[in-house]
Amino acid sequence: CGIVGYVGPQNALDVVLEGLRRLEYRGYDSAGVAVLAGGELSFAKKAGKVANLEKELAERALPPATIGIGHTRWATHGGPTDRNAHPHLSADGTVAVIHNGIIENFAALRAEVEATGVEFASETDTEVVAHLLAAVYPTIAEGEGRLAEAMRQVSRRLEGAFTLVASHAAEPDTLVASRRNSPLVAGVGDGEYFLGSDVAAFIGHTRNALELGQDQVVELDRARGVTVTDFAGNRVEPTAYTVDWEAEAAGKAGYDWFMLKEIDEQPQAVADTLLGRLGNRGEIVLDEVRISDEDLRGITKIFVIACGTAYHAGLIAKYAIEHWTRIPVEVELASEFRYRDPVLDRSTLVVVISQSGETMDTLMALRHAKEQQARVLAICNANGSTIPRESDAVLYTRAGPEVAVASTKGFLTQVVACYLVGLFLAQVRGLKYEDEVAAVVAELRKLPDQVREVLAGMDEVRELGRSLATESTLLFLGRHVGYPVALEGALKLKELAYIHAEGFAAGELKHGSIALIGDGTPVVVIAPSPHGRESLHGKVVSNIQEVRARGARTIVIAEEGDDDVLPYADHVIRVPRTPTLLAPVVTTVPLQILACEIADTRGLDVDMPRNLAKSVTVE
Ligand code: G6P
Repeated sequence: CGIVGYVGPQNALDVVLEGLRRLEYRGYDSAGVAVLAGGELSFAKKAGKVANLEKELAERALPPATIGIGHTRWATHGGPTDRNAHPHLSADGTVAVIHNGIIENFAALRAEVEATGVEFASETDTEVVAHLLAAVYPTIAEGEGRLAEAMRQVSRRLEGAFTLVASHAAEPDTLVASRRNSPLVAGVGDGEYFLGSDVAAFIGHTRNALELGQDQVVELDRARGVTVTDFAGNRVEPTAYTVDWEAEAAGKAGYDWFMLKEIDEQPQAVADTLLGRLGNRGEIVLDEVRISDEDLRGITKIFVIACGTAYHAGLIAKYAIEHWTRIPVEVELASEFRYRDPVLDRSTLVVVISQSGETMDTLMALRHAKEQQARVLAICNANGSTIPRESDAVLYTRAGPEVAVASTKGFLTQVVACYLVGLFLAQVRGLKYEDEVAAVVAELRKLPDQVREVLAGMDEVRELGRSLATESTLLFLGRHVGYPVALEGALKLKELAYIHAEGFAAGELKHGSIALIGDGTPVVVIAPSPHGRESLHGKVVSNIQEVRARGARTIVIAEEGDDDVLPYADHVIRVPRTPTLLAPVVTTVPLQILACEIADTRGLDVDMPRNLAKSVTVE
């Protein structure tokens, strides 16, 4: 979910709505706002996107106010309806609350509140907090910090994950928020204060942000400024930082879709991720990996853990890291990891990959790994988010804000970061293959231009996409690192176009799934470089023949100059020559464009596919 809060001289509703539009990628099944004016809270909330809420507000204006909160929701408890949309108000109308996360003990709390005669207006777990705050508030002595104290008392009773923001009718100058295991940042402007689930909520107004920790309550007061405490009420000094993303980086900049903009930003994102990390002598410089060389040399096993697209980046990492370091690597879906009792110890390195840094499945896997004494290295895009903060070390991908739900530049930069980790480990531990790091570094430096080159030649891919828009199934085949690319190509298509798509290891297809192929079935094949291992290339060419012989319409992604695929390809998409292990950085790009174009042709919302959220903060 997305959260915005504002205290200051501007029209609160405008500030909050602007924040909601920027945060909509975090959840968009309903949206709502509340403002406090003249000692009274008024609110509006609507199922559907923020645009629906704006329509409602155009018909039924809220009074001008200088304090406001807003929410975009991704449903957990209770379906996406008007009633279940946030904010939730207490029965007496004195408290308005918005919430991100899940309150696990809400059933017991709800029963307790209901026993006092309160009737609930929604099915959400959030509403209970509004009632609890309203009940506890009058019991606290009048004076400064009263709402914050109420929030502390209520927060101590809550189990689960939450970011809560509350406004009280009796406090016209104060907003209060609480945080446990869900994201929250504060923004400090000139005489005005902001809250957001991330900095995109207020990036148009200030770059001065405060990082808030777990189990903390923050009070934003027009006169007293920002006060942060733990749940017990002890003062905590928040860490201030400056947001370096350009405000327009969170806007669409003339593109039809954020996703298209983000696909086009990939050369820059890859270059930024490499920036300062490739030394002049061809070495890898990762000062941020604060795990001692001695410990890195003692690693006997690596787990890579992630969800969704980030998991596919992890699958690619396995090929690269094992090859360069000879350390066994297992890649695991975060949601499966801790439930199967994995074997971990002090000599295990766990690499968690997450664009948002807030994915709950990944966070829980990370915590499990830490409990087992493993060292955790995060590869993450969102600065200051929960996953990097709880890890021993973090390598930030520098993709900038990724708004489209389907990850593109997030993915490419994760893959690049994985290469850096693999090469760095190889460098620290001594190499199996002499001089290989320097040689690969030279190749890494070429990647931004190579991605640019791919992007420059995408018109035919778009045309191809339009011709595939009415298909009901697409298959994707690849071997070696081409296999995770095939999985990612299929995932993109499922996410965006709602077309059945599957990725297969090209060699495995014949063991069953080849039965799916009929006359005209589109099959996308990621062909490896003919300059890499010859047998690998030859085998994939045979796989293309096999499916073509059974009627498939073959679409082959192949390196420039690879003519071996020509006799069996109905369409060829060319990518520049890269070493086999680095190829995913170029071969994934046409698949992103393909999925985007197919979805667009089908008239779908490319940036916000149905049923998905950008960051899933529930398990
Ligand atoms: C969600 C998104 C996916 C994303 C996954 C992991 O399910 O819809 O696009 O790949 O989360 O996200 P993360 O932020 O952890 O990389």
